[in-house]
Amino acid sequence: MTAIAVVAGDGIGQEVVPVAQEVLALLHPEYEFYPVEIGYGKWKKTRTACTPDDITLLRGADAILFGAVTTPPAADYRSVVLQIRKELDLYANLRPVRGEGVDIMVVRENTEGLYSGIEWQEEDRASTLRVITRKGSERIARTACRIARERRNLLTIGNKANVIKSDAFFRDICIRTAEEEGVPYTTAFIDALTLDVLMHPGRYDVIVTTNIFGDILSDAAAYLVGGLGLLPSANIGDSHALFEPVHGSAPDIAGQGIANPVAAIRSAAMLLAHLGDTRGAALIDNALRLTAAKGITTPDTGGTASTREVGDAVCTAIRRLME
Ligand code: NAD
Ligand code: IPM
Ligand code: MN
Repeated sequence: MTAIAVVAGDGIGQEVVPVAQEVLALLHPEYEFYPVEIGYGKWKKTRTACTPDDITLLRGADAILFGAVTTPPAADYRSVVLQIRKELDLYANLRPVRGEGVDIMVVRENTEGLYSGIEWQEEDRASTLRVITRKGSERIARTACRIARERRNLLTIGNKANVIKSDAFFRDICIRTAEEEGVPYTTAFIDALTLDVLMHPGRYDVIVTTNIFGDILSDAAAYLVGGLGLLPSANIGDSHALFEPVHGSAPDIAGQGIANPVAAIRSAAMLLAHLGDTRGAALIDNALRLTAAKGITTPDTGGTASTREVGDAVCTAIRRLME
């Protein structure tokens, strides 16, 4: 029995995750889905956004389907998605950016760097410790090399080694790993790289980088393929895996039923591929293509359809493709 933990979370997570779950259930009626309530909404009710029991529930799943959680601007609140990535050791954040003339995989280190959580505040100064470890860098570099080999076999190592010594450490470990793995690589400074990705996306295959740079690069790259409503992601560790849109809880449009469910549906496709059902993942991709070709899209991508209508159209397309 395959068990999927479902965390809708906050804001539009509550709107797009049920649609993604429906798509999964259509392809795999035998899956068991169980909801786990996590996020700011839960914190408002109970003062805890994610309990140790919730983490245990997540650990028990074969895969986690995740929406988004809101991080309020409060000094003592730390995003629970970061807590989950850390506690389940989901060190590889894979963010495919695919569209017309663009096929890039951003491989973002997901557990350390500027997201170490080691932070302190004094009267006139606030500090965050940026931690880059050999183990953390090596394992993300190996993941990026493996993915590169399955794709066009070109690795770009995004860094800021010209300024930040911990990035020179990261870059050099990535270079050594790529050489060991026999994967051709180039290195690039992340600022110039981000612009070049936007100007010449066809030059790039796999880009490996540290946590915060990968966060920014993936949102920027969304520009190339129609925006944040379309980008899925996988958070992979050695024992657990969580799939979520790249976007957040979008409080500006939450509750209106117009959030684009495509990023969440594509995340569901990544979940299937991870569990070995590449046929199901391909079916979802085809159904998404057919739906978009009919002009059934939400307002962020120029359409007038609702979240539900897009979801229904995708499910109808999948049923047709399965006939
Ligand atoms: P966001 O991604 O939520 O929204 C940015 C912009 O993109 C907004 O204008 C929003 O309306 C639009 N957008 C995002 N997803 C969309 C979709 N599916 N369909 C249509 N439009 C979409 O980023 P933000 O506004 O910077 O952050 C909002 C909250 O989400 C914050 O509390 C942030 O911490 C949180 N967040 C959570 C996650 C996560 O849980 N993984 C990721 C990013 C942001
Ligand atoms: C993302 C988000 C998160 C991050 C936030 C919400 C903690 O922006 O998943 O891209 O910075 O990783
Ligand atoms: Mn982000």
